[in-house]
Amino acid sequence: MPLAAPPIAVLISGTGSNLQALIDTTDGDYRIAVVISDREDAPGLGRARQAGIPTSVVPWSSYEDRDGFTDAVCESARGFGAEALVLAGFMRILGPSAIGAFPDAIINIHPALLPAFPGAHAVEQALEHGVRYTGVTVHFVDEQVDHGPIIAQEPVVILPDDDAGSLHARIQTVEHELLPRVVSAFGRGELAVDGRHVRWKQPTHSKGVR
Ligand code: GAR
Repeated sequence: MPLAAPPIAVLISGTGSNLQALIDTTDGDYRIAVVISDREDAPGLGRARQAGIPTSVVPWSSYEDRDGFTDAVCESARGFGAEALVLAGFMRILGPSAIGAFPDAIINIHPALLPAFPGAHAVEQALEHGVRYTGVTVHFVDEQVDHGPIIAQEPVVILPDDDAGSLHARIQTVEHELLPRVVSAFGRGELAVDGRHVRWKQPTHSKGVR
């Protein structure tokens, strides 16, 4: 179980709006020790610098394989004292050694209601498939992609005129609320993993369809 206000590493690849939500919402239940990106041009790195948070770039192209990349990411996070990883728009898949390095302590946010639409194009795929609802999933990471125990989910309705941009914008509004709530609960030691199930110490309810 994590200590109070555990230091976390936030991993990003792009804009970093979820990172911004974590920065803005921080309430003493977690501390962002470092922001790590696989891309040195990730705009989210600027958000970290603006907030005075250390940054680390681990370029995907500098490593021969996924395992080498994964070890470098974990070493960087550990070097800044991180006890957990939060994947906030991190578009690389970490190898199995990350699970060993941070057991039950890697959290990912995904823009769909898993197990529907895993992968990198979840918003577009939900639209193409014609589902009426999609949403947001926050889950612990295991050895399979977008598969680990689900911590929280919130549905988002798909409107008749939605395109990927409008739908993703509404999904992100939900993400920016849900991810800090989950990371805070994790920081307070309130999440317990039991097989595929994650038990919250405080009861939590969906806010309904947005
Ligand atoms: C978020 O919507 C996140 O759910 C998604 O990338 C976006 C990053 O936005 N992640 C995935 O698709 C992972 N498969 P951000 O950089 O503005 O936080």
